[in-house]
Amino acid sequence: MSRIKITDTSLRDGHQSLWATRMATEDMLPILENLDDVGYHSMEVWGGATFDVCIRYLNEDPWERLRSIRKQVKKTKLQMLLRGQSLVGYSHYPDDIVYRFVEKSAENGIDIIRVFDALNDIRNLEVPLKAIKATGKHAQACVVYTISPVHTMDHFVETALRLREMGADSICIKDMAGLLSPYKAYDLVTELKKNLDVPIQLHTHYIGGMAIAALLKAVEAGVDIIDTASVPMAFGSSQPPVETIVRALQDSDRDSGLELHKLFDIATHFEEIRKHKGFERGVTRINDMKVFEHQVPGGMISNLLSQLEEQKALHRVDEVMAEIPYVRADLGYPPLVTPTSQIIAIQAVLNVLMGGRYKLCPGEVKDYVRGLYGKPPVSISDEIRHKIIGDEEIITVRPADLLEPGWEKAKQEVAEWAESDEDVLTYVLFPQVALKYFGWRKSKGLEDASLINKGEYLTVDMYQPENAAVNRLAGPKRNIHRRDEEMNFEEIKELILLLDKSSLAELEMQSDEFRLSLRKSVSNTRVTVTGDNDLPISSPAPTAVNEPENIVEVTAPMVGTFYAAPSPDAQPFVKVGDKVTAGQTLCIVEAMKLMNEIKAEVSGLITDAPILNGEPVEYGQILFVIEKE
Ligand code: CO
Repeated sequence: MSRIKITDTSLRDGHQSLWATRMATEDMLPILENLDDVGYHSMEVWGGATFDVCIRYLNEDPWERLRSIRKQVKKTKLQMLLRGQSLVGYSHYPDDIVYRFVEKSAENGIDIIRVFDALNDIRNLEVPLKAIKATGKHAQACVVYTISPVHTMDHFVETALRLREMGADSICIKDMAGLLSPYKAYDLVTELKKNLDVPIQLHTHYIGGMAIAALLKAVEAGVDIIDTASVPMAFGSSQPPVETIVRALQDSDRDSGLELHKLFDIATHFEEIRKHKGFERGVTRINDMKVFEHQVPGGMISNLLSQLEEQKALHRVDEVMAEIPYVRADLGYPPLVTPTSQIIAIQAVLNVLMGGRYKLCPGEVKDYVRGLYGKPPVSISDEIRHKIIGDEEIITVRPADLLEPGWEKAKQEVAEWAESDEDVLTYVLFPQVALKYFGWRKSKGLEDASLINKGEYLTVDMYQPENAAVNRLAGPKRNIHRRDEEMNFEEIKELILLLDKSSLAELEMQSDEFRLSLRKSVSNTRVTVTGDNDLPISSPAPTAVNEPENIVEVTAPMVGTFYAAPSPDAQPFVKVGDKVTAGQTLCIVEAMKLMNEIKAEVSGLITDAPILNGEPVEYGQILFVIEKE
């Protein structure tokens, strides 16, 4: 028997599963050479949530991360995870975008692209596989593993065979929720090896504790490659630790040949990062082990907990977990993996928070029911379908067949901001977040330049969220802050007056020490200054006092980000002075990475709309005031 090959997931799935993908590139760079020297089959370093988190939370360019990793990893193949036609996002993209994205991923340094479709709907993998083959890189296609009445051994083997026919260079069993029992792993690998002529890889999650045994049984059955992570990023909802697997196999004919002392050096580096940044260890709690009941995948559990915490509803986690299997059955037993895991989870959260099933359904849930993500493993009943999308028809074609080409349009839309084709792709994937990031990048550049060149002044930029354009102040540069002085409140006041007089809606400045953000709203101008201590200095949101009975306040049903329009370049859904009818969409609140349309419950006149586009909202915060007809 040949040596087992190992893929290291530390820089993608490992920290995605345990640290909410928050490891920064600077934490990775010092250890890349060591990782490269281990003799791994490949290193999974990109895709999945890394792309989104880079621009949303880390102010990093994900493409730049990939290039810096590639620069230092010279021997080991770099691997990424692609969500089929959804790429690294959450909805399907047009075929031309898929081709471009894959081409650019290869160009920036990826050798192996692992691709899956959440529903195992292989129609959704046709174009991604063609795109990968066109680059000449290795195309690994996934069979997504889950347990349900329809996910039989025949289904998995049949899916794998068809993916092989479509050009897959290897097949990965993707057990994202750690559901694969050791003996099932043995049988599944045996069947796949019997039927296929390409390497088989096993990707599993530790969560309930079966993964080490599952890997060993899979190795026994002849699996070619397995996924593990460095121990500070192993266990819990992540992969099993490489150290344990390497040692366990040393006494077998499948010895990996990897050296433990090299692995421990790497683990020591990651452990220091973990301690320094306060990241969690992978542990398994009773709740985690209930994965055997609810099947929620690793990454999703930590997300769900932090989202519930944000919604101040952490105490309802058991109810949400109990609701998940019902929603999953109602929606045709999709495997729980991005994006279906989010779709099922948010619907379960909403069913619990709203005190009834399907009272509020996010756009993504509706799209799923419409068939826009592909075909659910089991057809959704008429009753459930009607509750969620009414009398609308469902589609039966490959979802991306309905999409217009997107590249040229996006390129034009973001022309002012994009510095490369990679930027255009970032924009296509996450339009709102990308514009924020590009704005930050631009202002950072200006600020850095002025600080470095002149040594003492910061530059202030005017930022209009409505059309996402940054306009430099007309006339001479307005320098407002000497670097060595404390923030002067008279100066802030002056800025507020300036903003009030201008036609602009928002003003932001950022320095090493603090971030100043001024936003104009209908009723007041809000100021936040955050520094090292994140101290807000003034103006909380307005609170309502004894509103008359015909006044209805529309409040945020969840913590999230407020969007006034369906897309950055579109008109707002409504504005002050508009008449609305019950059921009309007022805005979108993005929460748990999903867009939730908020609708008017009564007809009437919009008299206030205090929240600005792109602004974060708290649970219960007033979004609109409607004067009932
Ligand atoms: Co995974």
